Amino acid sequence: MIKLKPILFSAVQPSGQLTIGNYIGTMRHWSNLQNHYQCLYCIADLHALTTFNKEIFFKESVLDTLALYLACGIDPEKSIIFIQSHVHQHCQLNWILNCFSHFGELSRMTQFKTKIDKNYIKKINVGLFTYPILMASDILLYQTTFVPIGQDQKQHLELVRDIAKRCNFLYGNVFTIPKPCIHQSGSKIMSLLEPTKKMSKSDLNKNNVIFLLEQKKSIFLKIKNAVTDSEKPSKIYYNLQKKAGISNLLEILSAITNKEITFLEKELDGIMYSEFKNIIAEELYNFLSPIKESFLYYRNNTSYLEKVAYEGALKARLQADLTLHKIYSKLNFFSSFK
Ligand code: TRP
Repeated sequence: MIKLKPILFSAVQPSGQLTIGNYIGTMRHWSNLQNHYQCLYCIADLHALTTFNKEIFFKESVLDTLALYLACGIDPEKSIIFIQSHVHQHCQLNWILNCFSHFGELSRMTQFKTKIDKNYIKKINVGLFTYPILMASDILLYQTTFVPIGQDQKQHLELVRDIAKRCNFLYGNVFTIPKPCIHQSGSKIMSLLEPTKKMSKSDLNKNNVIFLLEQKKSIFLKIKNAVTDSEKPSKIYYNLQKKAGISNLLEILSAITNKEITFLEKELDGIMYSEFKNIIAEELYNFLSPIKESFLYYRNNTSYLEKVAYEGALKARLQADLTLHKIYSKLNFFSSFK
């Protein structure tokens, strides 16, 4: 592997439609990142199996996500875009890392615990439990240095680092230790009706979420219904404890307009909540329109998407094999690699 630039790995699950939270927290930064790093952008379909829902048209969702990647400015000439299940090395490394991960550390993952608490899915499958180990495989397979993630994935990445350090301790330098890069602004866009929890594409109440491809009417309606507060006289300022709803709306507006929250507080001083919401809806619509247009362009060109995925997988496999070979030889496997 010629390491001209540091490796950056990022992935999203193709389950459900992507939200403005996904975009603002993660995808928005991707097109710029590819100028500074050797980027790998993965569609984590194997991860999506952990919460698989028969209603979801799997293949369609993967194509949707791929089209969105391109619409977000990812350039297949600069970056490697691929689908996780197309690169079998992820599962091979996953098994090996399973054997270097501890039951206790996985049990401590808050995302797993909250999913059980909420009885989020009736029967808990083992894949949901070992989910972070597959993330470790994704990341470590490419000798990744940087992983752009949202706040919610921080603990998972900490675990990935622990697993990598453990393997390095036992076998010498096998893996690069990855570092998280968490974008400050917009890394935590919250639900519209329950602003103390994260905006999530898998939320059962769709009024909590604004999707990237949301229709104009629906953007206005959802923002109009977003929770605020009953402070009298109403005042727009950021305070997570007292004004979770307004703070979230400010966070959204700040992320899409690139204006500091303190600046917005001054600019919006004295206006009514309804007016504030109208401004946000209008800005959101303008912000999302070009993404949507570009998405439709790519989404209607399936053969191009298939070509991008095919070529991406070829490139990813070449890199993945190098790491797999390395760990096979460290483990002293009777390996068929030449
Ligand atoms: N778990 C991530 C999410 O749901 C998706 C993901 C899978 C990922 N593998 C990854 C993110 C590797 C970063 C690195 O958002």
